[in-house]
Amino acid sequence: MKPREIRTGVYWVGAIDWDRRLFDALIPLPDGTSYNSYLVKGAEKTALIDTVDPAMEEVLINHLDHLEVKNIDYVVTNHAEQDHSGTLPRVLGKYPQAKVVCTSRCKGMLIDLLLISEERFIIVEDKETISLGDRTLEFIHAPWVHWPETMLTYLREDKILFPCDFFGSHLATTDMYVTDGGQVYEAAKRYYAEIMMPFRTTIQKNLEKIKDYAIDIIAPSHGPMHDKPEFILKAYHSWAFDEPGNIVVLPYISMHDNTRKMVEYLVGALTQRGVTVKQFDLTVTDIGKLAMSLVDAATIVIGTPTVLAGAHPNVVYAAFLANALRPNLKFASIIGSYGWGGKAVEQLAGMIPNLKVELLEPVLSKGSPKEADFRALDNLADTIVQKHKGQGFA
Ligand code: FEO
Repeated sequence: MKPREIRTGVYWVGAIDWDRRLFDALIPLPDGTSYNSYLVKGAEKTALIDTVDPAMEEVLINHLDHLEVKNIDYVVTNHAEQDHSGTLPRVLGKYPQAKVVCTSRCKGMLIDLLLISEERFIIVEDKETISLGDRTLEFIHAPWVHWPETMLTYLREDKILFPCDFFGSHLATTDMYVTDGGQVYEAAKRYYAEIMMPFRTTIQKNLEKIKDYAIDIIAPSHGPMHDKPEFILKAYHSWAFDEPGNIVVLPYISMHDNTRKMVEYLVGALTQRGVTVKQFDLTVTDIGKLAMSLVDAATIVIGTPTVLAGAHPNVVYAAFLANALRPNLKFASIIGSYGWGGKAVEQLAGMIPNLKVELLEPVLSKGSPKEADFRALDNLADTIVQKHKGQGFA
């Protein structure tokens, strides 16, 4: 892949990682990813905006050589995470006069993470600009998308926003711009759920902050660019601001089918009552799909058998994850089974303090679920419907 011209003198010089399947040793990447770096040539100065993951540094260097870039004045670093900053040492070595342009918090992180020396930095304040001659870069501080040091870069004359992770999607594609809206919507929603959702309130503030900028292109650091920015702006607005829908997410584990019978009964009861249910068997679930389902759900019901007096470890992991992702859930419940006792309900309920949910009456069966347990599940379904209606979600 060669560099790709976006506007005269503005190039994509990133790397596509088709085969990566895990990010941060945690997040599944079913469709690979890309690390988008951009070169902006002005009449007097040249800037590189973000770099690439160090595993692919040769790709970036080859792009710069292909474009015969003899001089880089500024390496704008919107974000210190290494998938964008990791090739900085190599770039700074190749271009000894280049300065790193970033927030003061980012500077400290780059010194800690990459041992970059103090004199290589230019710190920029919120809304500060740097002139490239006939082009102007404006820096918009946008902390917590998704680290505390993050900023966005706006190329004024061309109306291009470079937001790094913000509006990104883990998607390896040769499409420069979004062509398959459905595919990109799903990848971007997955990305939002896994990376941005814990910071929903700061996402809201940052969406407000950029709303008056004229933007022709959003050029994120993962996935394709947006030449119709309203597509991704509208999606983010909905994920960050909208109230949840009439949706129940039901992650569960079943060891001897007792919990499974209860899950299937509750799914049927909720469906009959007009509630959408997303059911996840945690032995085979892609956690990205689970995270995505939490973006617009009103209720989570966790299904677990009792193992060593507590919840099944896979369920504990799912509860931990849901708590860390801080979705906009309003209600929670727990269903499952036990043999002779246990504390699964207390354990799980204690694991989700970040979720500002009302806990609805749990339903646990002793061994195989019996008539009284199914009636209790009917009651739980009725309660969920009533709560959703009460909040205007149904
Ligand atoms: Fe794509 Fe937060 O790094």
